[in-house]
Amino acid sequence: MYVIQVASEIAPVAKVGGLADVVFGLTRELETRGHDVEVILPKYDCMWYEQIWGLHRVFDDLWVPWYGGAIHCSVYFGWVHGRKCFFIEPHSPDNFFGRGTFYGCKDDLLRFVFFSRAALEFLYKSGKRPDVIHCHDWQTGLVPVLLFEIYQAIGMPNQRVCYTVHNFRHQGVGGVELLWATRLGRPEYYAHHDRLRDNTHAHGLNLMKGGLVYANFATTVSPHHAWEVRHTEQGCGLQSTINVHQVKFGGVLNGCDYDVWNPEKDWHLARHYGAASIDDKYVNKEALRERLWLRKDWKPIVAYVGRLDAQKGVQLIRHAIHFALSRGAQFVLLGSSPDPAISREFWGLKQQLNNNPDVHLELGYSDQLAHMIFAGADMVLVPSLYEPCGLTQMMALRYGTVPIVRAVGGLADTVVDRDFGYKPPGERNGYVFDHADAAGLESAMRRAIGLWFDYPAEFRQLMVQGMCYDYSWNYPGQHYLNIYEHIRAK
Ligand code: ADP
Ligand code: GLC
Repeated sequence: MYVIQVASEIAPVAKVGGLADVVFGLTRELETRGHDVEVILPKYDCMWYEQIWGLHRVFDDLWVPWYGGAIHCSVYFGWVHGRKCFFIEPHSPDNFFGRGTFYGCKDDLLRFVFFSRAALEFLYKSGKRPDVIHCHDWQTGLVPVLLFEIYQAIGMPNQRVCYTVHNFRHQGVGGVELLWATRLGRPEYYAHHDRLRDNTHAHGLNLMKGGLVYANFATTVSPHHAWEVRHTEQGCGLQSTINVHQVKFGGVLNGCDYDVWNPEKDWHLARHYGAASIDDKYVNKEALRERLWLRKDWKPIVAYVGRLDAQKGVQLIRHAIHFALSRGAQFVLLGSSPDPAISREFWGLKQQLNNNPDVHLELGYSDQLAHMIFAGADMVLVPSLYEPCGLTQMMALRYGTVPIVRAVGGLADTVVDRDFGYKPPGERNGYVFDHADAAGLESAMRRAIGLWFDYPAEFRQLMVQGMCYDYSWNYPGQHYLNIYEHIRAK
């Protein structure tokens, strides 16, 4: 099958969060199974260019219709760790992707609406006719709309779209100028409740809603989240839309790329290890302590790796740091936040804890340190208020690091509580709490830290049980292929 992914991120060159990991990992899995997969991305100025091989211009005459005229674009091709990627570079004073940042600009909506239009124009003009276009999140919600309203009639009748929502909290809501910019026009038609009109703001056009309505199949990134968005306020206003389109909506649990996240061959680690050589994990614990100047003592390390965003439960993370210390554990945090208030709060906390040899807060982004933490920590905390899937708990499991999670979204699908879980004791893999408050968090952390201190052999057993889980792309890869097969033009 010929699949083209249209996305705003790919790991490791343009990564803000898990979306980047998913686009890379799914592409690799499909290729391994013999399918032809290409990825279309914006050519951001701030990509990690050293990790793109053989980048060169392949198409220089792309004119993308935009308002009353057209914007001239070049298209580059390059390999990102073996994946075939096309990067679109517009030449216009708007300088859409030359902002030194992936997101966070006032005109983000127009930037990605432009990208969506440009991606389709590129397919159209270059003669690429994939069986399936797989696009992701609000940034590419307009892709199926443009395909079926414009390109289908002029030469792309057989293309089908799978649309995956990674985060319902960001839907891309804008005004009618989106229609004029992309030349869709006809506000009376598109700004209709059955199409793009936002379910809450009557004058808003919702890109994600457009994606859900127009795609041949829509998914979100875990089965539990697929249920949450239909039946709870986690659908962020799109519940009714999803329910109307429920026959073409489902949850596919993300995979974790075991080629990148594998303690048996991870080049970031001080010592490789696996389930059969778990003692070697402790070499990594020592290496982590050395790197972060933590005291060497008989204490467990609890870690948090991830964006410091409200959805991640920042107040609970903050509480967990103090609670871990009060229970005799150490705490390591790696994270950053684009939100100045959250950022200030954690810089303040860092300063306050600066002289404590049992805690280290690294406020920034570091792929290498993330690998070292998953390998060196004993437990990884994911206390999210909202989590469509979550990848860090899967990474932790792979590294024999026990996850402590809140029962929400994909976290509820992947972690089974050691004491109260629904699986037989030999198949449980971590700690789970329900209530997003201090008492809930403490109940799980107390049990995890208690087991580490009082029953080390049982803690080890739990680590090994986690490592035995298979959260690779193997199963989700097949799941997506079934969806592609189901929607492709016969
Ligand atoms: P989200 O997509 O909501 O951010 P996920 O758990 O799906 O959450 O994915 C987060 C990804 O980003 C993981 O690969 C995680 O290791 C990585 N990550 C997040 N913050 C950082 C950071 N500060 N440094 C290194 N990696 C990070
Ligand atoms: C989003 C979600 C996260 C998910 C990731 C990859 O950023 O917040 O839960 O794991 O996308 O699908």
